Amino acid sequence: MRTPFLDLTSRLRYINFMPDDSKAVVHPARIVRGVVRIPGDKSISHRYAMLAAIAEGSSKFQNFSAARDCCSTLDCMSKLGSAWKRLEDGAIEVQGVGPRLKAPTEVLDCGNSGSTMRMLSGILAGQPFTSELCGDESLSRRPMARIMKPLSEMGARIDAAEGGRPPLKVHGGPLKPIHYRPEVASAQVKSCVLFAGLFAEGETVVEEPIRTRDHGEIALRAFGAEVERKGNASRIVGGQRLRAIEAHVPGDLSSAAFFLCAAALYPGSQITLPGILMNPTRARLLDILMQMGLKVSVAHLEEHQGELVGTIEARGSAWKGGVIAGADTAALIDEIPVLAAIAPYSESGLDVRDAKELRVKESDRIAAVATNLRKMGAEVEERPDGMRIPGGQHLHGAELDSFGDHRIAMAFAVAALRAEGETTISGADAAGVSYPTFFEELETVAGR
Ligand code: S3P
Repeated sequence: MRTPFLDLTSRLRYINFMPDDSKAVVHPARIVRGVVRIPGDKSISHRYAMLAAIAEGSSKFQNFSAARDCCSTLDCMSKLGSAWKRLEDGAIEVQGVGPRLKAPTEVLDCGNSGSTMRMLSGILAGQPFTSELCGDESLSRRPMARIMKPLSEMGARIDAAEGGRPPLKVHGGPLKPIHYRPEVASAQVKSCVLFAGLFAEGETVVEEPIRTRDHGEIALRAFGAEVERKGNASRIVGGQRLRAIEAHVPGDLSSAAFFLCAAALYPGSQITLPGILMNPTRARLLDILMQMGLKVSVAHLEEHQGELVGTIEARGSAWKGGVIAGADTAALIDEIPVLAAIAPYSESGLDVRDAKELRVKESDRIAAVATNLRKMGAEVEERPDGMRIPGGQHLHGAELDSFGDHRIAMAFAVAALRAEGETTISGADAAGVSYPTFFEELETVAGR
């Protein structure tokens, strides 16, 4: 008899995720097979919503991310004067108001979304008014000094709580251009500064230590701005006007990663993911998965508004494990939790290095992964900037926690598919921050 894979019991629905709001029970699978249509990319959806608001005309987006995080961005933009609605065909329409937004009469609630707070601050820095931004408990712990520094150099004044944490008060005004070399490799910081650069007089340059995802540059170009990129430096000249666009948002590769890792659990597994983002600054994940043993092919490559899209076919084979370090760590920062969660099942294990950024994500992801893996009976060596997880281990089902972090909830649902016995994940509702239908979709591909 087929056991129910999931028992997701939400007692209450809160706009911000409340830990212990929901529990998911995951039962082991024998194989993973099927086709999954992954919702639109979260990084691109945020940027489209923000740029559409400061463009002229109304923009329309098919397959806009269903993530709670992207709703936070849309809601903030509407408090700044840009109305949005869902059309009958499921597309999202955003009414642009041009570069001058309306002063908000309420605090802008960014929910759990660091992307909303950091990138939107870039736009708000160029507005002739003061805005207040707040977030949930997790976001309130995250570092904002990384955007406060460049925006202050450009002439904005930003107040934050102790230690440069939210809530923020952004006092916008006239901006001057800067040549900025961020210490941390962060696409959110890069987009924040480039968005602010739109409002500065002259050329703003962001020169990154390691090249990060370039959706900000690509989206700015799609909306009609000129952005030059040479090596790791991106440049924008202020005063450019944006024009509304129509776009289809590619499927989120970071959400696809959970299904690719599920396929990696069993030789003979097979998964097809149509319409997935193939942007080279994100697709390093596929190289790493192939090096670790997953058989991957990509078909139907196309370009939508400057972003590459393709259909991924993946087949499980011997899962070898490996090392993630340096530029790969930055490129795979959102996928490391799931790669680490399934690492005990690999032959040689996984070594994650240069990853201290993982400690300041929606949770401390190194501690969260190590805690959950140990509860499942695994051996893990935790370091300040990484972890080593030996291979050849057997895991048992356990009572785990999402730590209020969407990627931890989903990573351990995948690991639970190969554990012995049932796994309970408290706070599983966190998955909705990036992928509200994740547990239902995982159920459709789990063969028993
Ligand atoms: C994102 C960049 C990354 C990533 C986040 C989304 C983006 O964060 O972890 O989920 O859309 O630019 P950092 O810029 O902090 O590395």
